[in-house]
Amino acid sequence: MQKIEKKWIGNIRGEDVYAFLVTNGKGTLSAEILTYGGILRSLWYKGTDVALGRETLEDYFDNDGYIGPIIGRHAGRIQDAFFTLNGKTYILPKTENERVNLHSGDGFHTRVWQAEEVSGEEAAIKLSMVSPDGDGGFPGEVTVSVTFTVTNDDALRISYCAHTDADTLVNLTSHGYFNLNGHDSGSIENHTIVMNAAYYLPNNTLCAPTGEIRSVEGTSFDMRQEKRIGALLHADFPETNRFGGFDHTMVLQGTGFRKIAEVTGDKTGITMECITDRPGVHFYTGNKIDPLATYKHRTVYSTYQGFCLETQLFPDSMKYPFFPSVILKSGETFQSKTEYRFMLKKEKGK
Ligand code: BGC
Repeated sequence: MQKIEKKWIGNIRGEDVYAFLVTNGKGTLSAEILTYGGILRSLWYKGTDVALGRETLEDYFDNDGYIGPIIGRHAGRIQDAFFTLNGKTYILPKTENERVNLHSGDGFHTRVWQAEEVSGEEAAIKLSMVSPDGDGGFPGEVTVSVTFTVTNDDALRISYCAHTDADTLVNLTSHGYFNLNGHDSGSIENHTIVMNAAYYLPNNTLCAPTGEIRSVEGTSFDMRQEKRIGALLHADFPETNRFGGFDHTMVLQGTGFRKIAEVTGDKTGITMECITDRPGVHFYTGNKIDPLATYKHRTVYSTYQGFCLETQLFPDSMKYPFFPSVILKSGETFQSKTEYRFMLKKEKGK
């Protein structure tokens, strides 16, 4: 039987915070979601916790590594922290290197969301919040909801919805970190990956896109055939050397809700498929995971302990009009959906 359990875990700015444990009908997949930041704290697939997480609610307050939250209004980097919309320039806080706005500063990952259980065939909770006009420097009051469904075919589905009362930017993602051998199992270097991306966005030194859309052919970014992540990380390729690994947006093939990547843990044989309707995914290999931060069960995490598949529009798109638009117009609705689906490799295709 599907199940939703709710537990009070603390308080911030006078608001209570809850953890929801959402389990599917077969009891094979459970997601632990916090109402603070919409954080994915744990994800148990057949007994293995494949999501990185921190120990207490308070541990999340420093945003160190953005371990698991929903990112908004705008995921990724906006270089020089400004954009021009309808002829007006908006200045955002510079939150990285005194040059860049990363993940919208005190963005949606720092908010307490309202939660409701969604009744239906599958276990789901819906988180919602209102981001006031001017929030983080962005115009318009944005009403946003994110529904987490734990499906009976072992997927965590994240469905995003937003509307605004004035033209603004919306680019939402989930910053979940995965380790398919288990969150406490060390590095993901021996995971294998396949990704349906023929192009990627090279970064400048600030880790923001240069505007170029480059072919993956002959580079470490070519994951069209299955590759070992460690082999790509250590291939001595300038783009990955510079950032200590992958921290790049991949341009996905195809349109519509389609499978874009598949990653497998070598020790457990757990495969995760990523299915999304987004044109891009920011592939981050946990290059800067802080070994001194406090994580679940006091586990020490190190570099490459987890990877993120942050499905999204492209970062810094307002500077590059040929990138898909991140503008949400007044009266329009932003909608998007991503699934992370789990299976044991040996059962694949059954
Ligand atoms: C960024 C990384 C950053 C990480 C955690 C990713 O989305 O691109 O550069 O270190 O988030 O903060």
